[in-house]
Amino acid sequence: MKEQLEKIFNAANEDIKNAATTENIEEIKLKYLSRKGELNSIKKNLKDLSDDDKRIVGSFANEVAQKLEKSLSEKYNEIYKKELNEKLQKEKIDVTLTGKYIPKGHVHPLTETTNEIVEIFQKLGFSLVEPQNSPEVETEYYNFDMLNVPKDHPARDMQDTFYCKLASNVVLRSQTSGAQIHVMEEQKPPIRVIAPGRVYRNENVNSRKNNFFHQIEGLYVDKGITMGDLKGVLNEFTRLYFGESRPTRFRSSFFPFTEPSVEIDVQCIMCQGKGCKTCSGTGWLEILGAGMVDVNVLKGVGIDPEVYTGFAFGMGVERLAMLKYAIDDIRLFFNNDIRFLKQF
Ligand code: PHE
Repeated sequence: MKEQLEKIFNAANEDIKNAATTENIEEIKLKYLSRKGELNSIKKNLKDLSDDDKRIVGSFANEVAQKLEKSLSEKYNEIYKKELNEKLQKEKIDVTLTGKYIPKGHVHPLTETTNEIVEIFQKLGFSLVEPQNSPEVETEYYNFDMLNVPKDHPARDMQDTFYCKLASNVVLRSQTSGAQIHVMEEQKPPIRVIAPGRVYRNENVNSRKNNFFHQIEGLYVDKGITMGDLKGVLNEFTRLYFGESRPTRFRSSFFPFTEPSVEIDVQCIMCQGKGCKTCSGTGWLEILGAGMVDVNVLKGVGIDPEVYTGFAFGMGVERLAMLKYAIDDIRLFFNNDIRFLKQF
């Protein structure tokens, strides 16, 4: 039995010497030292020996087991260190490599233009309207009726928009002017607000017209407001927006909710008034509509037109951005072509 043990001991040592991985070590442990291992099968036979032999063989078997365990754990540590070093070498991080490219976005040119215009009017003392007073989904009441556009008025055709089948009086607003009514219903003069937002119209889409676009509405109501204030504020706006003082032209016009009404042109920024393709040879570019708030509109919201007067204006954000950046097709704003957007 002792010889058998010695044979096992030698064989085990040979295996340990040849072990190359930590997995090998586990295999050797299993083969010799586990419950079903070779050493245990010898120990099981001890019961057939005399008491003296039991003691001698038994303690020799324990000695063999202890020695094997010791060399196994030494070998294990040695291999483990080697494997760890190899792994560290292989997985070394190269901190000089360039990082993963994550493209950085920025605000849309229309948002940027809107912010710029709103900031100009804030400098001039206007405040941004509360969102609930400038809803995109409107009723005919706010979009037309209260703006002095009765049911059969031809101006409804000029601003034909999208109606709702479920509720016949609900429309996608055709203009931001409804915000004027919401604000005047809620607030007493003095009122000085600016209302940017999206509007909708039933248009044949082409390079100059889209069936949705953006407007910025302005309203100033107080005692003693005159056409002179309108001209002063809007001239100052064109100066600040286009970056330098340039000639403007106030043409008489018609809007149902302002009286008198004007359209404001600015001298063409392409040709300095000489006449070119952009201004169709006229030397002028139309930038906005405006006028003194109609007496009927003031009465409708319960503001006494004998005490208060005011002016309102509305401008197209796309148009102002197109003029400033020489963009010749409105659809570019909505195609989401990164080559276009990246330029801003
Ligand atoms: N709402 C008008 C339009 O869309 C513009 C406008 C606003 C004109 C306010 C006068 C006063 O054409």
